[in-house]
Amino acid sequence: MTNKEIIENYNKSKESLKPILDELQDMNGFVSEEDIAEISNYLEISKKEIMILLKYKKNIKLEKQGENIIVVCKGPNCLKKGSIDIIKEIEKNFNVEEGHTSKDGKLTLETKNCFKKCGFAPNVEINGKLYSNCTKENIVKILKDVIY
Ligand code: FES
Repeated sequence: MTNKEIIENYNKSKESLKPILDELQDMNGFVSEEDIAEISNYLEISKKEIMILLKYKKNIKLEKQGENIIVVCKGPNCLKKGSIDIIKEIEKNFNVEEGHTSKDGKLTLETKNCFKKCGFAPNVEINGKLYSNCTKENIVKILKDVIY
């Protein structure tokens, strides 16, 4: 079934928006710009309105996710202890930008506000496992060990 067929399987009503987004996310791992245009067209809802909803629907990704998901904490304690430097180091070494997936599809770099492990700041989650007391010096080695 194509994405267009999935979209058109739903009733043409505003209530269909969330279930369509969830189904496309489950099926493809993300919802593309073309999907959003298709949904907007079919449900007669503006793209802007869909994008506003997507700000709150954190489970919906707008691009294909990488094989590895890296989440750097940007909460106040982690920021104080250098999480921005860690993000920059990851961006530089793995050719990825915050909020996006690297071109080779190896990793997606995300951020979060707090892991509630502030005493061990800065914290980085790699594929669901939390690494504490990270530094810009050791983060590249940790990631290379996990990813390659
Ligand atoms: S601020 Fe990073 S874990 Fe709380």
